[in-house]
Amino acid sequence: KLPKKVTIKEVGPRDGLQNEKQLILTEDKVNWINSLSETGLSYIEVSSFVHPKWIPQLADAADVLRKIKRNQGITYAALVPNIKGLDRALEMNADEVSVFMSASEGHNLSNINKTIDETYPVLAEVVREAKMAGKTVRGYVSTVIACPYDGLVEPHQVKKVADRLFAMGVDELSLGETIGVGVPTQVERLLEELLREFPSSQLAMHFHDTRGTALANIVKSLEMGITTFDSALGGLGGCPYAKGASGNVATEDLIYMLHEMGIETGIDLDAALKSAQLIERTLGKELKSRQMEIFRAE
Ligand code: HMG
Ligand code: MG
Repeated sequence: KLPKKVTIKEVGPRDGLQNEKQLILTEDKVNWINSLSETGLSYIEVSSFVHPKWIPQLADAADVLRKIKRNQGITYAALVPNIKGLDRALEMNADEVSVFMSASEGHNLSNINKTIDETYPVLAEVVREAKMAGKTVRGYVSTVIACPYDGLVEPHQVKKVADRLFAMGVDELSLGETIGVGVPTQVERLLEELLREFPSSQLAMHFHDTRGTALANIVKSLEMGITTFDSALGGLGGCPYAKGASGNVATEDLIYMLHEMGIETGIDLDAALKSAQLIERTLGKELKSRQMEIFRAE
């Protein structure tokens, strides 16, 4: 019943670093991404072309994309909120772009300064232009279980936004559990609703691990046929426009669990841990993952 192979999409350089208070040198980001490229990952979200005033941590997105060493077979993706962001990403030849919005009004407004209805035409134009430029497009829906402003979010709200994004032509939709409050029973209800309409091959799950439920939610998703998961090395991450959001599920903890379950990821756990150690040194603090704790103790 479980899949034999899973794709892990590393979002640490974007979702992880967007949430770090300290300034990180472009060179350090580039070195980290280059080390991620040697782990067997097939997908790395390297930065975002949002407004630098909103996310100063990623203001150097263009330089990062220019300076990283690109390996064949790896998709180097970037987040874009609008046409201006898309133009910047295309200039730097990002392999794939991701558009993003929320299933709840409160988070959408706080994160991208627009209502949900105002967001659709902006994203539709981005998807159209990106496709014309020959790029694949990923869509993110945030707050798929709960919103830090509006409370619980119902599956039909998520489906409504998902419908619109797929109609625009996104190739894959990543469902963001932004604040990490969800539990497997809620994931089941959400996926039951979405899988009635969309194939599991076009859905990815993006769990933050604020309350330690991310791996349980991933197991539930696996049982329901999902084979693509977002994670961040060292459990880095969070959304500055979502109160209480903390790190993504840690890539190394996810790799460990999947491999022990007999599910292939193509990623070398030791190489991933070494890469986590590299960014740990850059950040000057211990990363919070079980695998890193064990690695440090050994
Ligand atoms: P706005 O202020 O409403 O933008 O921000 P605007 O369209 O009114 O433009 C205002 C000014 O910004 C203009 O400049 C634009 O040119 C400039 P001016 O004419 O005043 O000099 N501008 C830009 N500059 C550079 N790059 C751009 C850009 N766009 C406009 N792309 C906007 C609207 C969406 C831009 C802003 O709200 C924004 O950048 N938000 C990004 C917030 C963000 O990055 N959040 C974190 C990522 S989402 C996330 O973490 C969730 C996820 O992980 C899934 C999950 O966990 O749920 C994906
Ligand atoms: Mg996120």
